Amino acid sequence: MAKMEVKTSLLDNMIGVGDMVLLEPLSEDSFINNLKKRFDHSEIYTYIGSVVVSINPYRPLPIYSPEKVEEYRNRNFYELSPHIFSLSDEAYRSLRDQDKDQCILITGESGAGKTEASKLVMSYVAAVCGKGAEVNQVKEQLLQSNPVLEAFGNAKTVRNDNSSRFVKKMLWQKLTPMTLSLDLLEKSRVVKQPRGERNFHIFYQILSGASEDMLNKLKLERDFSRYNYLSLDSARVNGVDDAVNFRTVRNAMQIVGFMDHETQSILEVVAAVLKLGNIEFKPESRVNGLDESKIKDKNELKEICELTGIDQSVLERAFSFRTVEAKQEKVSTTLNVAQAYYARDALAKNLYSRLFSWLVTRINESIKAQTKVRKKVMGVLDIYGFEIFEDNSFEQFIINYCNEKLQQIFIELTLKEEQEEYIREDIEWTHIEYFNNAIICDLIENNQTGILAMLDEECLRPGTVTDDTFLEKLNQVCATHQHFESRMSKCSRFLNDTSLPHSCFRIQHYAGKVMYQVEGFVDKNNDLLYRDLSQAMWKANHSLIKALFPEGNPAKINLKRPPTAGSQFKASVATLMKNLQTKNPNYIRCIKPNDKKAAHIFNEALVCHQVRYLGLLENVRVRRAGYAFRQPYELCLERYKMLCKQTWPHWRGPARAGVEVLFNELEIPKEEYSFGRSKIFIRNPRTLFKLEDLRKQRLEDLATLIQKMYRGWKCRTHFLLMKRSQIVIASWCRRYAQQKKYQRIKSSAIVVQSYIRGWKARKLLRELKHQKRCKEAATTIAAYWHGTQARRELRRLKEEARNKHAIAVIWAYWLGYKARRELKRLKEEARRKHAVAVIWAYWLGLKVRREYRKFFRANAGRKIYEFTLQKIMQKYFLEMKNKMPSLSPVDKNWPARPYLFLDSTHKELKRIFHLWRCKKYRDQFTDQQKLIYEEKLEASELFKDKKALYPASVGQPFHGAYLEISKNPKYKKLKDAVEEKIIIAEVVNKINRANGKCASRIFLLTKNNVLLADQKSGHIKSEVPLGDVTKVSMSSQNDGFFAVHLKEGSGAAGKGDFLFSSDHLIEMATKLYRTTLSQTRQKLNIEISDEFLVQFKQDKVCVKFIQGNQKNGNIPTCKRKNNRLLEVAVP
Ligand SMILES: Nc1ncnc2c1ncn2[C@@H]1O[C@H](COP(=O)(O)OP(=O)(O)OP(=O)(O)O)[C@@H](O)[C@H]1O
Ligand SMILES: [Mg+2]
Repeated sequence: MAKMEVKTSLLDNMIGVGDMVLLEPLSEDSFINNLKKRFDHSEIYTYIGSVVVSINPYRPLPIYSPEKVEEYRNRNFYELSPHIFSLSDEAYRSLRDQDKDQCILITGESGAGKTEASKLVMSYVAAVCGKGAEVNQVKEQLLQSNPVLEAFGNAKTVRNDNSSRFVKKMLWQKLTPMTLSLDLLEKSRVVKQPRGERNFHIFYQILSGASEDMLNKLKLERDFSRYNYLSLDSARVNGVDDAVNFRTVRNAMQIVGFMDHETQSILEVVAAVLKLGNIEFKPESRVNGLDESKIKDKNELKEICELTGIDQSVLERAFSFRTVEAKQEKVSTTLNVAQAYYARDALAKNLYSRLFSWLVTRINESIKAQTKVRKKVMGVLDIYGFEIFEDNSFEQFIINYCNEKLQQIFIELTLKEEQEEYIREDIEWTHIEYFNNAIICDLIENNQTGILAMLDEECLRPGTVTDDTFLEKLNQVCATHQHFESRMSKCSRFLNDTSLPHSCFRIQHYAGKVMYQVEGFVDKNNDLLYRDLSQAMWKANHSLIKALFPEGNPAKINLKRPPTAGSQFKASVATLMKNLQTKNPNYIRCIKPNDKKAAHIFNEALVCHQVRYLGLLENVRVRRAGYAFRQPYELCLERYKMLCKQTWPHWRGPARAGVEVLFNELEIPKEEYSFGRSKIFIRNPRTLFKLEDLRKQRLEDLATLIQKMYRGWKCRTHFLLMKRSQIVIASWCRRYAQQKKYQRIKSSAIVVQSYIRGWKARKLLRELKHQKRCKEAATTIAAYWHGTQARRELRRLKEEARNKHAIAVIWAYWLGYKARRELKRLKEEARRKHAVAVIWAYWLGLKVRREYRKFFRANAGRKIYEFTLQKIMQKYFLEMKNKMPSLSPVDKNWPARPYLFLDSTHKELKRIFHLWRCKKYRDQFTDQQKLIYEEKLEASELFKDKKALYPASVGQPFHGAYLEISKNPKYKKLKDAVEEKIIIAEVVNKINRANGKCASRIFLLTKNNVLLADQKSGHIKSEVPLGDVTKVSMSSQNDGFFAVHLKEGSGAAGKGDFLFSSDHLIEMATKLYRTTLSQTRQKLNIEISDEFLVQFKQDKVCVKFIQGNQKNGNIPTCKRKNNRLLEVAVP
């Protein structure tokens, strides 16, 4: 998830006021109070615009952790509470992103925390700058150079246990650390320290921390008191472990890149310096009456020479004589004791200070950036702070001058920057009154009338030069200067000022008045090292020492006087200032809260003093002269947009327009603010605080609103969840209950259903069982009946067959006899015919031969062929004659074909033969027989394959008059009534149209009529002319039922159609058809269908034939089903 960026501000959770510019009312008291309030809450950093004021907490604070580094990284200056990291980040980002040279100037008096601040800045930049193995190594080396430099350049002073005694400038290129440059070491400390102070840390560290072995090698003893250069009164510092520090320093030296032999050489030089202090001189009167100094105890000298590889005699001489070269003349003078001590100290100071410079060069070599291209740099400047001691000497004068210059540059650049911002933002600039210390700088550095110029002049002046003469000169030249005070000056104001001793002068520095002891000024400024000594050093068999004194080389003798310490310092400061002016300055103003180096103590008077001389109030005033507060439009809008409806929550237009709307809406007086190009300028802090109050109030309201909305949302969500859950639970409960109920109903239904089904099944079973029993009974009865019938029929058929067989045998014999006779006749006839034919053939042959003998040759082939063919045909026919089948038309036999080419002839012959024998067969029929066969043929055409009864009728001869009416006296009357020839006389069953029952009737068919008469009485019941019979209907089944349909409207049709049943249905129907055809010349319609309509009076009744009912055995039964249906069950 993308991290939500929360815009914070310096104004959030502010203790006191984070930026003094916003202090209201602005006064010294309120300023100090604000600092105190913040200090009490461990807020040691406070802003004055872009300047960071830092108060030394004198205790470790948890505000420099890597987390803090991350917190301040890439954040805007005013976004978080004041911090040194914020300033470091700002400077570093300007360097990185805008490619501007940066310098961070850290000022404040001794012990105010400058060095610590510089280290914090460096560690921050090291943490955020470029990464990579090489860069990391260089960073580590740069950071590790600190302990080394502090060991050699820091010392305990009254004001600070770890006071920097040199100016340190660390340079940082865009992404990589670059160089260190150090300058202006307070070297006088090597030989003499004020009371309560120490020499440089390294001396104490070696003596405390070096192993015995190393001490032996360095020819040192662990006892501090053995060495004159080490002050004894504060040799041990509380909370400082020199031995541990020594190890740290050695370790750091290793990291920075010092080789072991280099470290050894360095320590040897340090030891030599320390031992130099132990060389003492005694006066010895010489012959010429002058005093000459002699070394008291040469043992120390010897050890020094052993350590440094210098010839003892050379060094000894250098301490006793001074050679002055002028115009190719060498003049050697002896040194008195004082001069010898002076020479000794000068050597010690030079050795040490040159060693220090060499160290810096060496470190720079180690960490030098690889690139040759000049890139923009960031410098961190840590100087020694402003010092006011009881006895202030040349060193303090120099140090304070340096601070004075720094203040000067601060004033200049702050004002300049402020002014530039106003111009950049197009805001009108108003002039501000402030104290400019340029006048003090002028007092010191003026080339003609400056104190340093005076001093140089004094030093170079021939004749006796003393500190007093120098003071006198000062008194003359600077008497009227308003910042110079001296008893001896011509300024009457100081004549009676007892606080000002005669040998002193006082300067009103920007940071306070400082009284300087004039004693030693000239010497210290001269800083002379006799050439004999530098030459002795050059001759040393010690590469480092040799390198430290290049001027000792006789080949490079320079007769010019070396520049004085003062002028060197002035030049260095000038270069430094020049350098700073080209860079974008960032200020850290360090303040010391108390003199006791104690935590939690805030000495208001002390702080007030520092605030005053640092000009912090002026700084605030300058910053507030026009507008107290400024902020880019975007940030301003972002912070206060919730105060106006139009800008909250989003402003769509440009930020400036948004801010305008916002300020108009809030009714902020027009004179209270101004619109710059990119920033809004607020004149009065009051306005800002009003905005802040409104914002705070509004934020609370918004928080309440958010809280309200959130709570509402949460409750509603909870409620909805409960509601949904309730519905789910209820639905599940209901479902469960309904499921239970349904299961109950279902099982009950199944029980009821099973009872009912059981009951129905049992009932059905009973019924079926009953039906089965009935059917079985009927079947048994029918079987018995059919058995009887069949046996009777069998007997009859057997009788009939016997009769038929007898007839057939007789007939066959008769036919056989006839055939044999015929055959004999035919054979005779054939033989005769054959003989005739042969004779004829022979005769023909003879004739032909005789006639065609002449053509024979030509026609012989053809003739032979034809003859052969003829012969074959003859043979074929003769063979056929012998193989002729019987004359029975049903005989399917026919001889096989002898020759393939006779195939069609053979088939034709077969056909002709068959037709011939059929004709033969037919020819033997009598007329009566012909009639019978005609009728049978007719019956075949009408019923074959249509009526199941037909096949059974084929074998039965059609008798016609089954009932011999003429013979039965019973029917005499009937016989009389019928005049015509009777074609059919048979008893039929007439089906009663009401109930389907049968009544026997005599059915008579005459040439013109159909007559129905009572069987018993012979009384004619109906007479239907054949012309009135339209149709005869019957089923296709094996029954004898048939309906005679009458023409509608005819006389006979009054009672409707007739439905009969007869055993000779086929014969009757055939005869009826033939008679009707011959009489009416119309074909009677015979319909064969299992369902037909019969007209009974007015009703049409359907007669339906159903097969398979065996109830009445083999006899079809008729039953009236309803008004419209008469059902005939056919077995
Ligand atoms: N930010 C800080 N946190 C904790 N202790 C601090 C801090 N700044 C300074 N001190 C303490 O104050 C002492 C003095 O600080 P520092 O050496 O930086 O002073 P200085 O301004 O460099 O003095 P000088 O001008 O004498 O070199 C340090 O040794 C340290 O104990
Ligand atoms: Mg310092």
